[in-house]
Amino acid sequence: MNILITGASSGIGKQLALDYAAKGHQVWGQGRNKERLQELTDKGITALPLELADLAKVRASLSELPAMDLIVLCAGNCEYLDPECFDAELFSRVWQANVLTVANCLDGVWGQLKPGSQLALVGSLAHLLPFSQAGAYGSSKAAIHYLSQALGTDLAAKQVSVHCVQPGFVKTPLTDKNAFAMPNMISSEQASQYIMKGLAKGKTSINFPGVFSGILHFLNCLPVSWQQSLCRRLAHKEGA
Ligand SMILES: NC(=O)c1ccc[n+]([C@@H]2O[C@H](COP(=O)([O-])OP(=O)(O)OC[C@H]3O[C@@H](n4cnc5c(N)ncnc54)[C@H](OP(=O)(O)O)[C@@H]3O)[C@@H](O)[C@H]2O)c1
Repeated sequence: MNILITGASSGIGKQLALDYAAKGHQVWGQGRNKERLQELTDKGITALPLELADLAKVRASLSELPAMDLIVLCAGNCEYLDPECFDAELFSRVWQANVLTVANCLDGVWGQLKPGSQLALVGSLAHLLPFSQAGAYGSSKAAIHYLSQALGTDLAAKQVSVHCVQPGFVKTPLTDKNAFAMPNMISSEQASQYIMKGLAKGKTSINFPGVFSGILHFLNCLPVSWQQSLCRRLAHKEGA
């Protein structure tokens, strides 16, 4: 298969790129950090050094690629809001990294989407509960969830399947920055296996790990005031 993975220079995207390449697939891995991209090149992956916030560059770079069998849009970032002071610049950075880069990539690959191919957007289970300080990150991932479903509606006509990948906590440089407790954390190797299996089965929503996902989906069905009370208690426990 021809596979394009964004955010392949680190964390989940990197592991996914390595795992698909090890299975003999032709992988293009996007990132920005040149040293980390070199590690991909050493493993036979075609490195795509690219700032995804730059639409003109994304269009020029992605539209030159051959048609892909699988596209995984994994690049993203996380920053937390200070409840004492709403920071619109932080909010904008998070949405730029998690939502607008996805829009840029979709614009870049749209013309080459071929029948039978798969498009996966990496969201997060985080949008299922109104966690304290997570207004920017959670809302960006809620947008990815909606976007993947709406794209699935429209791309069915082109016989392109759309998948939303929603991880819980995965140990990566992104979560290494977090000082709070992260229950049910898994490795990037485990995350990559969940994603590959989910895509191979054609699952529309790939949520993992299972128990953690089940708990969050259950809590998501409770009245919002209960969810907020629970999230306030969790934040209080963490001393936020
Ligand atoms: N780790 C978790 O627990 C977790 C949980 C749920 C969802 N997720 C989601 O999974 C995805 C990957 O997360 P991760 O934990 O693997 O993070 P990570 O290790 O920090 O990797 C993030 C990747 O995204 C790239 N990137 C970020 N902003 C970019 C931009 N503007 N232009 C180009 N590339 C950009 C980075 O490139 P460079 O480093 O080369 O700049 C890097 O390759 C994210 O969408 C994240 O929200 C992660």
